[in-house]
Amino acid sequence: MTVADQLRSLIRTIPDFPKPGIQFRDITTLLLDPAGLRLATDSMAAAIAGPIDLVAGIEARGFVFAPTLALALNAGVLLIRKDGKLPGATIAEDYALEYGTDRIMMHADALTPGARVLLVDDLIATGGTARAAVRLIRKAGGVVTQAAFVIDLPELGGGDALRGDDIEVHSLVAFEGH
Ligand code: PRP
Ligand code: MG
Repeated sequence: MTVADQLRSLIRTIPDFPKPGIQFRDITTLLLDPAGLRLATDSMAAAIAGPIDLVAGIEARGFVFAPTLALALNAGVLLIRKDGKLPGATIAEDYALEYGTDRIMMHADALTPGARVLLVDDLIATGGTARAAVRLIRKAGGVVTQAAFVIDLPELGGGDALRGDDIEVHSLVAFEGH
């Protein structure tokens, strides 16, 4: 079995969540499997080119993989959080949702300008979240050229949009349909 097929077999699909017509790709079943968690981490780490100073994880599900990947790459962890959670001085970036907008933040002093940052999240769909994170990291002076995801939903175009932002996109499993 390929790595993609092994991981696919560990990801559960929940139909009609959070609303009718959406197939929710649920990584909690992958996380429960020690070999699956290690395979996902090692496969993402193996795809990354060059030294990385910080792995930036996006709240909430990106927080699962940022530390495992950071340990594999000998990097630190940068937390990108939803609005209002960080105690220090922050910088923020807004992004569009289907209805309305959302906001992510990081500490303004979290990185040294020029730091090489890898972005990680569990899944890329429209790419709105990841693209906002790239803008945020770049605004802080970080150099982000690669992003890693366990799951890509290519029909939603996020991977292509992120490549248009000069990001090399590494994803382990693609699911058609959404
Ligand atoms: C999900 C997923 C990604 C994002 C992808 O997060 O974990 O972060 O959506 O969607 P996009 O490519 O269309 O932006 P979500 O904010 O739903 O919830 P979470 O807090 O559970 O990670
Ligand atoms: Mg998320």
